[in-house]
Amino acid sequence: MRANAARGTIDVLCKATGPGLSALVQKPIGELVSMTGPIGEGFKPHPHRPRTVLIAGGYGVPPMIFLAEQLKQRTDANWKPLVFMGSELPFPFSTRPSTIMVEGMPDGTIAALNFLDEQGIPSRLSSRSDFPGCHDGVITELAQAWLSTLDKTTLNEVELFACGPKPLLRSATEVAKQFSVPCQVSMEETMACAVGACEGCNLSVKTPRGLEMQRVCVDGPVFDAYSVFD
Ligand code: FES
Repeated sequence: MRANAARGTIDVLCKATGPGLSALVQKPIGELVSMTGPIGEGFKPHPHRPRTVLIAGGYGVPPMIFLAEQLKQRTDANWKPLVFMGSELPFPFSTRPSTIMVEGMPDGTIAALNFLDEQGIPSRLSSRSDFPGCHDGVITELAQAWLSTLDKTTLNEVELFACGPKPLLRSATEVAKQFSVPCQVSMEETMACAVGACEGCNLSVKTPRGLEMQRVCVDGPVFDAYSVFD
């Protein structure tokens, strides 16, 4: 979720869903653990498209916090990260009515993540679980609503990035197609080795050479959306 090179720290957000993660979260603060990474290919924002729309659902939230905060700090372009996040479980962060205007939002869609608002990064949330200030619908509807407010020239500065369950990634790709903007998606597969050895995470990807099986762990997890969804 975060990496701070100056402090030499990383933040990881996880849910203890199995024996491995349960053991990890029970580690006392200060205990050393070994880890391998980073592995694979991450998001690659393009400086000529600084209006980055970050779409996250559920477990896709932490990587998008990383991307939003990194973009906000970068100086190689006038990056304008805009974050849309959806969750049916309570968000693992405090939220508040945003102080930053986002064009095109449905009435009452005002909830934002506190710490993003404080950094000047606009965000909006969606949920069907009746959380205050959240859009009662799917998160890609908010991206679609915002994109609808843009003229052609501004759309040429936009790129979409999505992380979360596959239906969300597919929906983000459809929105990108509708507005003819590029889109990168972070794919999720069960990984046995996570270092490219077992081929257990193969995914069919369209390439200039035709369809190829690629490994999500090392060739991805981020792929061009148009190469993995029709
Ligand atoms: S998980 Fe083994 S190759 Fe990707």
